Amino acid sequence: MKRLFSISVFALMVLLTFFYACKPDPQLDFTTKTAPISFPIPQGWPKPFYNFENNTLTSSGFELGRKLFYDQRLSRDNTISCGSCHQQFAGFAQADHAVSHGVDDKLGVRNSPALFNMNWHTSFFWDGGVNHIESQPINPIKNPVEMDESIDNIIVKLNADATYRSMFKSAFGDETINSQRIFKALAQFMGMLVSSNSKYDKYKRSEAGITMTTQELNGYDIYKSKCSNCHTEPLFTDYSFKSNGLPLTVIKDSGRAHITLNPADLYKFKIPSLRNLKYTGPYMHDGRFNTLDEVLNHYATGISASSNPDAQLAGGIQLTTQQRADLIAFLNTLNDEEFIKDERFKEVK
Ligand code: HEC
Ligand code: HEC
Repeated sequence: MKRLFSISVFALMVLLTFFYACKPDPQLDFTTKTAPISFPIPQGWPKPFYNFENNTLTSSGFELGRKLFYDQRLSRDNTISCGSCHQQFAGFAQADHAVSHGVDDKLGVRNSPALFNMNWHTSFFWDGGVNHIESQPINPIKNPVEMDESIDNIIVKLNADATYRSMFKSAFGDETINSQRIFKALAQFMGMLVSSNSKYDKYKRSEAGITMTTQELNGYDIYKSKCSNCHTEPLFTDYSFKSNGLPLTVIKDSGRAHITLNPADLYKFKIPSLRNLKYTGPYMHDGRFNTLDEVLNHYATGISASSNPDAQLAGGIQLTTQQRADLIAFLNTLNDEEFIKDERFKEVK
């Protein structure tokens, strides 16, 4: 018996040594990570709009996308990465910045949107000016107030780095670095940023031990009657363009009309999700509000007739103090702490 025991301990040790010797180094060896992964769709959610058609999702593609996302070499002076304006702890929005902050401390005119559940978006940017996630990154890269860099120059910089050459090889089969591959890898990383583990999600999935308080449930009812037409479940937006009546500022951002040139679209913006509001402030396309109280004050008394407000908002949304507290309690159940702490989405240094 004793002998049998020591033989099995020995066998186990041999096995473990073998296992460790074969364990790929995540920085260098990507050869085992090239098998296609199927995109996980959260229970009860609609089919995503983008499901990596012509862009096979793999671990190595995702990891390459993550490295690119956090790489400052994508900007002219190597100071700004996608992750500078899209920070994980802020739900991949930019914390404390009403409008985006790019190279040479230049400011943009719009708030950096949160990035999550991207595969359900039917268009990109506040005005929907970009219609494919794989063509989106060219905009911040070329924008003189964001990264101000050319793709050709980025390709030169990346080609000089042996790690990149081997990562492109493992993601796409050979070492060629081109814009299409850069964009596909970024789309793999951004597409995997799925936020579906808030208390609300767990409640909807009837997970053990998850209950909503009476106050949260009351808030849920208020949300359903006052907000859900535009901020529709389960993504908490229907991705359509509407004006919620924000008073015009000196910038007079025309919103959706900037793209369609249709006066009926003046001051309409893509409806943002209500998920993760705890992390994604400041709010609205220009980051004008810092708190949910300011947002609800706007819906109560701030709707401006001159910014083409949606008919549903005529007269504003009036709530009692109690209803307001209940609604905010419900909105807080939409915060997904697992998402903002997810190790897979962090920069690998
Ligand atoms: C200087 C800040 C800044 C940098 C750098 C930046 N972004 Fe953005 N991003 C923004 C702003 C601002 C918007 C909204 C633009 C608009 O609506 O006109 C945006 C929009 C987006 C959107 C669309 C989101 C939506 O809800 O429609 C995606 C996706 C995105 N960025 C990804 C990236 C990627 C990938 C990179 C790196 C290649 C990047 N961003 C770099 C500020 C930035
Ligand atoms: C008629 C459609 C409509 C209704 C109803 C509506 N919203 Fe909005 N909401 C919008 C639009 C459009 C925006 C973006 C406006 C902009 O930035 O120009 C927005 C933005 C927001 C934002 C900012 C999110 C961010 O990430 O910047 C919050 C928070 C918000 N709404 C909460 C609510 C709440 C709570 C209710 C119900 C009390 C509600 N909304 C009702 C259309 C609507």
